[in-house]
Amino acid sequence: MGQIQNPVKDYWSTETYATAVPFAPHLADTLVQSIEFDRTDRVLDIGCGDGKFTTSFAPSVNYVLGVDSSPSMINTAKTLEYGGAATDFRVVDCRHLEEDAEVMNGNWDKVTSNAAFHWILKDPSTRISKLENIFQSMKPGGTFFFEMCGHGNAPEKVTAFMFALVNQGVPIETAEAMCPWFYPSDVYMKNILESVGFQVKKIELYTKKQELKTFENGGGGLEGFMRLIGAQMLDILDSEERKNSAIEQICRMLRYGTTREDGSQWITHVGLRCIAVKP
Ligand SMILES: C[S@@+](CC[C@H](N)C(=O)[O-])C[C@H]1O[C@@H](n2cnc3c(N)ncnc32)[C@H](O)[C@@H]1O
Repeated sequence: MGQIQNPVKDYWSTETYATAVPFAPHLADTLVQSIEFDRTDRVLDIGCGDGKFTTSFAPSVNYVLGVDSSPSMINTAKTLEYGGAATDFRVVDCRHLEEDAEVMNGNWDKVTSNAAFHWILKDPSTRISKLENIFQSMKPGGTFFFEMCGHGNAPEKVTAFMFALVNQGVPIETAEAMCPWFYPSDVYMKNILESVGFQVKKIELYTKKQELKTFENGGGGLEGFMRLIGAQMLDILDSEERKNSAIEQICRMLRYGTTREDGSQWITHVGLRCIAVKP
């Protein structure tokens, strides 16, 4: 296995993930239910996180390798039960799958991902090569099914982050460059998947309102969500005081548009789901 040249800073913590984004591992439930698994399947799960999404299909297959850049997430994934499937989990920067020999020689029947490609595909310099690597790693006839955030996802969130950073004196160009999310349209994703050789069987954008629940201990909610998923952007600010001030402003700006009559807070989720095959 080669050396990862630019390790991804670990902004993820299993505990915070479970309270701030408990719905994320279930975003692909509909997609998973539409996939025909075989008992002999070997599956690669890219950006597997804490393994909860992996549990949704692992009992139907023979073997799963889960890869993720977060040591915290991988440590938790190693502790879950996968209904009899053999599993391995390890820390990999998935922008550079070519550096992992087992991933590339895996002979995968299926490759999957949930709620991770909008982070992993952000870097345009590795976007196409990553898809080429996935294509190469699969058996002919193999299925690539994934779910990610798509074009138009939570525009209020993106705008609030940009505004708060600019208000802290960050140039708008820097705020834009720090934005860690890539929300592609279905048309663009179909084009790039086909350009590397996949046959796209189904690809669609969908919109739904997603509740951000606050837990009794005060965790989660709009603030917990913004702090976790925006950690990378907030990192540009050089003190906890400035980060807290930005978060306070972000939540205040979002309050009006996200809060319902009963006080619950909802954000606009746009998902992109796709099923493609390697001919
Ligand atoms: C929202 S979580 C989704 C986790 C899991 N798939 C699920 O459904 O719960 C996004 C995951 O992408 C991972 N990730 C982000 N950038 C990555 C990269 N360059 N390589 C590997 N994993 C990455 C994060 O560590 C995180 O676990």
